[in-house]
Amino acid sequence: GKSGYEHFMLKEIHEQPRALRQCLRGRVDELGGRIEFEELSRLSPERLHLVAAGTSYHAALYGASLFRVAGIPADAYHAHEYALSPPPGEALVVGVSQSGETADTLAATRAARGAGAETLAVTNTVGSTLARECDHVCYIRSGPEIGVAATKTFAGQQTTLALLAEWLAADTTDRETIAALRSLPSDVQAVLDNSRSEAVAESYLGSEAYFFIGRGLAYPVSLEGALKLKEISYEHAEGFPAGGLKHGPLALVTEQTPVLATVLGDGEAARKTVNNIKEVQARGAPVVVVTDGRSEADRYADHVLRIPDSEERTAAVLANVQLQLFAYHTAAALGRPIDKPRNLAKSVTVE
Ligand code: F6R
Repeated sequence: GKSGYEHFMLKEIHEQPRALRQCLRGRVDELGGRIEFEELSRLSPERLHLVAAGTSYHAALYGASLFRVAGIPADAYHAHEYALSPPPGEALVVGVSQSGETADTLAATRAARGAGAETLAVTNTVGSTLARECDHVCYIRSGPEIGVAATKTFAGQQTTLALLAEWLAADTTDRETIAALRSLPSDVQAVLDNSRSEAVAESYLGSEAYFFIGRGLAYPVSLEGALKLKEISYEHAEGFPAGGLKHGPLALVTEQTPVLATVLGDGEAARKTVNNIKEVQARGAPVVVVTDGRSEADRYADHVLRIPDSEERTAAVLANVQLQLFAYHTAAALGRPIDKPRNLAKSVTVE
């Protein structure tokens, strides 16, 4: 059942601390400063192609960034496009799929196998077709997800891919990273306990459209924030790379279009995003900033959704939780059938 929550989605959002504890269990060796994957034999791919659809594609984009930072060339592809024209060159092809049954993702990993590539499944579902067909499999361990909107499984995918990037890149992992990973469940709990997302969501009901912007690791989070909002609230929501605004989408920005900007850390991506925030504000758009407070972003925000201070990769998980709650509360205020949005199915088995 829904354990007292009004919707499975809200229950599953609140299950994230437990799901992430489960995901991390046995995989972070604090004393040895090492990440471990019991179920995987040693892999040393020269390059990775991550293939996925929908929310899982956003996790794949996030993962690909982390692999690249770790020194392993990696790209994320929409599975439905990859199968049609697989890029040349040898790669470990990683299918990222909650259900493990998505037709698009299976088509992509099958095409890869047909071309002689090794494949790895990153999935929530033990015994799924993807898990059975790939050469290697690792589980995100999120537990069953009933709501059509993927929530805890996105966090599980992010976390598993972050662990995989560390595991593939080096024999040892630094203390800060280990600490950030280990405190992820309690940091997510802190977001859940203190989020002001309900009041913020309610103050923007009736907006013409909602735009989500971010750079670097905040970019896939922005895409995911927009997808979540559009699928459960039916409001028009789009995610853009913050740097892309000037190349077109800025024409859509008005007083009627709140901009939700995710700003992580205080590096170059954060500084440049702050400039983009100023630009949308100059066009009269209300600004909601999701941030750890390390940059100047708060100063230009109409509302701030705060996340605990963390490393950028874990902060991206925390920021997404705020956006999940924003989407949920918007949809709840509009009385939408949150767990079963119109026209959508939990598992998409036809391309
Ligand atoms: C969004 C959502 C879909 C799925 C997509 C892929 O909330 O749930 O976009 O993420 O259909 O599904 P899986 O991960 O099962 O391959």
